[in-house]
Amino acid sequence: INTHIYEDSQNASWYVANEIASLIKQKQEQGQKAVLGLATGSTPTKVYDYLVQFHKENGLSFKNVVTFNLDEYFPMSPDSIHSYVRFMNEHLFDHIDIDPHNVHIPDGSLSKEEIRKYCLDYEEKIQNVGGIDIQVLGIGRTGHIGFNEPGSSLHSKTRLVRLDRVTRLDAASDFFGEENVPRRAITMGVGTIMEAKRIIIMAWGEGKAPIVQQAVEGKIKESVPATFLQHHNNCDFVLDGAASSFLT
Ligand code: F6R
Repeated sequence: INTHIYEDSQNASWYVANEIASLIKQKQEQGQKAVLGLATGSTPTKVYDYLVQFHKENGLSFKNVVTFNLDEYFPMSPDSIHSYVRFMNEHLFDHIDIDPHNVHIPDGSLSKEEIRKYCLDYEEKIQNVGGIDIQVLGIGRTGHIGFNEPGSSLHSKTRLVRLDRVTRLDAASDFFGEENVPRRAITMGVGTIMEAKRIIIMAWGEGKAPIVQQAVEGKIKESVPATFLQHHNNCDFVLDGAASSFLT
């Protein structure tokens, strides 16, 4: 893992947005698609703001971009204010020229019987476009990436999972109470994430400092899924000063 420490999340997000924009332009010149793996949550919002800005002010086009989101709560209607579909539309997709057919977000409204096949298809769609070029990640206080909570294996693929108590607590304010936070989610697996050609994981603020330290410097283990990223040969951990403060 290469760590990049910036003064603040604004500067760090600027770096990440430019890395993504460069990939999109490079692929455009080659007449190819750029495949992005995307995260929700508070961490990547400034990156999306910058991408929208690049589109509106500098003419960056997303016509050749294909996206796969990491996860969605289950059960979750796409129309709900809590859905990650809604989040992505609000923060990014409604403001750029991406083809809606190129956007993929796990569907939280399926019946339980449909999920297995759906998850296999999600994996296949990623394979069929040649795999993810850049996977954007945040990190949860449990050490989760996507919603791969402690206990997730290195080879896990897209599937229905149970959310950790800590994760549900962290989401409680968004849902006006822990009891309203869904107990499950559909998430890409650790194995899905590890297949990305490049991974950019971000973390801001002192609350993330202990888990960042474990992810970067700790022993690789299932109880901290983010430690698996140490096995990846092209993974950048982008931090602000506070999130990096426990690193030795
Ligand atoms: C979101 C996701 C999660 C978040 C993580 C951090 O799609 O997969 O792993 O990245 O929970 O959340 P924030 O950024 O809100 O601290």
